[in-house]
This record gives sequence, C-alpha cells and structure tokens, in this order.
Amino acid sequence: MSRRNLLILTLFVFTLTISVLSITSCKKAFPEMINPEYGLCGPVTLDNSQTILFSAGNDQFFANRSSATGLGPYFVATACGSCHSSDNRGHPFTILTRFGQSDTTGNKFLAEGAPQLGSFTLPGLTPEQIPAGATSTRLIAPITSGVGFLEAVPDSEIIAMARANVNNPNGVRGHPNYNTIPSYVTPLNGSVPRSDGKYICRFGRKGAVYNLFQQVAMAYNHDMGITSTYMPLNPYNYLDQSPPVAASSPEIDNATFYSVVFYVTALQTPVQRNPTDPIVVQGQNLFTKIGCADCHKPNLTTGYSAIQSIAYQTIQPFTDLLVHDMGPGDDDHYTEGDALTSEWRTTPLWGLGLAPGVQGGDVYLMHDGRAHSIQQAIQMHGGESAVSSANFNKLSSSDQTAVIKFLQSL
Ligand code: HEC
Ligand code: HEC
Repeated sequence: MSRRNLLILTLFVFTLTISVLSITSCKKAFPEMINPEYGLCGPVTLDNSQTILFSAGNDQFFANRSSATGLGPYFVATACGSCHSSDNRGHPFTILTRFGQSDTTGNKFLAEGAPQLGSFTLPGLTPEQIPAGATSTRLIAPITSGVGFLEAVPDSEIIAMARANVNNPNGVRGHPNYNTIPSYVTPLNGSVPRSDGKYICRFGRKGAVYNLFQQVAMAYNHDMGITSTYMPLNPYNYLDQSPPVAASSPEIDNATFYSVVFYVTALQTPVQRNPTDPIVVQGQNLFTKIGCADCHKPNLTTGYSAIQSIAYQTIQPFTDLLVHDMGPGDDDHYTEGDALTSEWRTTPLWGLGLAPGVQGGDVYLMHDGRAHSIQQAIQMHGGESAVSSANFNKLSSSDQTAVIKFLQSL
C-alpha cells in the first residue's frame, strides 16, 4: 500500500472512530450525561410541535454524513456532534484550522481555499494544505448548550457592558465584535446596524458570527462540505485547481437545516452542581473579588425570543459576549470582524466542570485546547486579564482551590 493510501486509510479509520464516539445521540454515547439535571443535550420547555422539531434536529446534529448525503469533497468532520460531543466542549481530535487572515484588510488566500482547511477529503482527492506565507489558527469546538439564550441577549445589554468598563481599575476594556452579515441572514428583533452597516456579532471564538442561523450555514459548509440554499458553493481546494462547485441542488434541504438551527437554539443551559457548598460559595466570591467576573459576567438577561421559555430570563453563562485583548501569549495572527489577532470573546464558563466527562477525562481549554487544566488556562490570561490572573497567583493555596472548586461546579 502506498504511503498516500495508507494516510487516507488512517484518516478514514480515525474519522470512523470519532463518528462511533458520537453515535446518533449524546445520550447513547455518554450515558453519564443523561442526567437531565446537568442541562446538556436536552431541550428547554417546548410545546408539542417544537418538541418534534427539536427531536428531528437532534437526530441531524448527531447524524454522520457520507458522500451520499452531501459530505465533502473537503471536510473536517462528518457530524456536528463529532466536534460538539454532548453539546459541550470539543476534543482536540476535531480541532479545525483557519488560515490566511492576519489583518483587517480581508483574506488574501481566498483563491487558495481559505478560510478553513479541508483536512479530510472524499477518496481520490488531496487534503488541503496551508499555502506558503499564510498564517493559521487552530480552534477547538466551544460549548453549544445554552447558545439560544446567548442569542437572545439584546445588543443594548452588550453595549452597556462595554461602556461600563471605561473606568475598570483592572484594565479590562473589551468591545462588541461588529461585523458584516451575509445577505441570507435576517437581522434579529431589536438589532440595528452601526452607521457603517455592521452588526454586533457574538458567536465563534472571536465573536464574529451574527446568529445561530449563520453559524449553522457556515458549519455545514466549512466543517462538513455540505451546501445549503444559503451557502450553495462547496469549499475549494487550490491543489485541485478546480473552481468552487455549485451543487445542482442544496445538499441539505431547508427543513432539515432549520431543524438543526432550532435544535441548537432550544438547548438548555448547563446547570451548576453544588452551588451552596461553602467552598464553592467562597470560590465564587473570590472569583468576583480578583476580577474574573469583570469579563466572565455571572448574570445576563435575555430579551425577546420566539421560544417562550428562552425570553426574558436571567442566565449564568459567565461571559460578557465582548472581545478582549488577551495579550501576546494568546495571539493567533488571525482576525475576524473587528476582533484583532490577540482578541477573543470571553468564553462562557458554564458547563466547564462537565468538560472532563466529554473530553475523555482530561480537559482541553482556551480557543485551541492547549490548556490542560483550569489552572493552566488562568496562567494563559494576559493583556486585559493579566491583573486578575496575577491576583489569582497571589491567593493562598486554599483560596486558589476554592476558585477551582467553584469553576468545577459550573
Ligand atoms: C470540525 C468540528 C466542528 C463541526 C463538524 C461543527 N462545529 Fe460548530 N464549532 C466548531 C468550532 C471550532 C467553533 C468555533 C468557531 C469559531 O470560532 O468561529 C464552533 C462554533 C459553533 C457554535 C457557536 C458557539 C458559540 O458559543 O460561539 C455553534 C452554535 C455551532 N458551532 C454549531 C454547530 C452545528 C449545528 C454544526 C453542524 C452543522 C457544527 N457546529 C459543526 C467546531 C465544529
Ligand atoms: C479581560 C477579560 C477576562 C478576564 C478578566 C478573565 N478572563 Fe477568562 N477568558 C477570557 C477570554 C477572552 C477567554 C478565551 C481565551 C481563548 O480562548 O484563548 C477566557 C478563557 C477562560 C477559561 C477557559 C474556558 C474554556 O472553556 O476554554 C477559563 C477557565 C477562564 N477564562 C477562567 C478565568 C478566571 C478564573 C479568571 C480570573 C482569574 C479569568 N478567566 C479572567 C477573558 C477573561
């Protein structure tokens, strides 16, 4: 067997293994996650027709696609659930790579297959490579539970949080990521563009994606090579020297597409365990005192949502949905929207304590999963978060343990 065939076979077995890990539903693959009290995978309160839609979307989210069902020709994984296992943080096996956009003038490598690397291909094609001279970034899947609530946080609340930071004594600033939205995206209720036509965006590691509709269209297209009414062109690999291919009909129909948008929107929020444990309470107080909660905001309020149980709720996501400069140690040389190379959206911390359950016992934190413990993640906080990170280091070891215990309860 040639080296290339061996490589393709290895990639195939590897993809299959990941696929088996995420069979059909997270409940089957991760029985310990069945506990509805954890708030992963399950729906918010829905009426009957919504429950049917959620269930259809659930099946599609975990369904593995093949060439017969539109996968490829270039892809990173075969199912949403391969990367977003149990709707919590992803595993390094499924890290994706973006390349070629190191400043705000746009992506100079679009003709060469950017922005996202098609690491896997259908048989007979060459996996994409990063062209010479392009910078690249590696992103691990963030948690999907609770994203419908994040979508329902009004722009006004995000703007207010940014304004309130003007005099922050720890040097915390942060700003919303204003970005251009694609024509297939309908602006949400109450969301108005800035004078330059850009909207406040909030999804993705740099907060550059407007809403869940856009996120799902891009995920199908870039992550799985599946075309939709909204993104009708297949991803392109310059090594094959062929232009982007417009599929004769979308590889996913609108009804299926919409069920997946509904599924992610209607996911519950993760539920904190042991919130009244005295050590956990002490840890949360310290978390606020040393400045972590300046960005990881404990309480946000949702506004209007078409799903009644999501509208006008107080949630505990531990994010402000702003992007912050995290310093040179957390610079990926890649820009998105208004977010510069060292700027990242504050990661929601809900579900953090459940991460080992879905990441195989270890944890892989920060945008590229390179922090292998909560302590390591804190040490990687520089820039606007340097003061709070230094404050953490100054705590006694029992106080540090309390902060960690609190974070593990999320
Ligand atoms: C190859 C792995 C992979 C696959 C497959 C994948 N995702 Fe993702 N997902 C990611 C990564 C990485 C991000 C962060 C992307 C970014 O920073 O722009 C993300 C972001 C998201 C978000 C936004 C979460 C947030 O808080 O910002 C949602 C929602 C989401 N994905 C849903 C889906 C759906 C639905 C599918 C299937 C159609 C899917 N994903 C397929 C890796 C994946
Ligand atoms: C200036 C805003 C800011 C402050 C202050 C801050 N963080 Fe963060 N935090 C972030 C951002 C932004 C990220 C994402 C960075 C990345 O992905 O590279 C993050 C990521 C994390 C993560 C990784 C989460 C995951 O799922 O990968 C943990 C854990 C964390 N922060 C805990 C803390 C703690 C504890 C403190 C206080 C010592 C703190 N943070 C202070 C903005 C902040």
